[in-house]
Amino acid sequence: MKLLFINGVNLNMTGTREKGVYGEQTLEDINGEIAAHFKGDECEFYQSNIEGEICAKIQSAKCDGIILNAGAYTHYSVAIRDAISCTNVPVVEVHMSNVHAREEFRHTSVLSAVCKGVIVGFGKNSYILAGESFKL
Ligand code: DQA
Repeated sequence: MKLLFINGVNLNMTGTREKGVYGEQTLEDINGEIAAHFKGDECEFYQSNIEGEICAKIQSAKCDGIILNAGAYTHYSVAIRDAISCTNVPVVEVHMSNVHAREEFRHTSVLSAVCKGVIVGFGKNSYILAGESFKL
């Protein structure tokens, strides 16, 4: 199975930013653990802080599933929502933190309605749970 893990804005700062929320591991460390978990599968990892680049990556994706943590773009990017609607590849929305237990503006996702499902609140394991969901 081919899985594409996309991380959006500020997720390159994981391990440095708000350690109490996102943990002490870098995104590279987390991606390494994900790759080890899915060792029988083909995993691609992509990160961008730029909304249009994330849209382009979704548009060109050729894989069985996309695991998407769009970061703050989740809460307002109609462009990323439209890119998800354009692709035939199923997308699972992911958040490391439990966004529903945080500030009210994080309770809204403009992406969820066009995603196959949503996984929130399990830290780095949110990515693994989302990837596993494509195997069910
Ligand atoms: C996040 C939650 C978002 O609200 C926030 O803007 C992020 C990370 C998460 O993984 O918990 O950057 O997507």
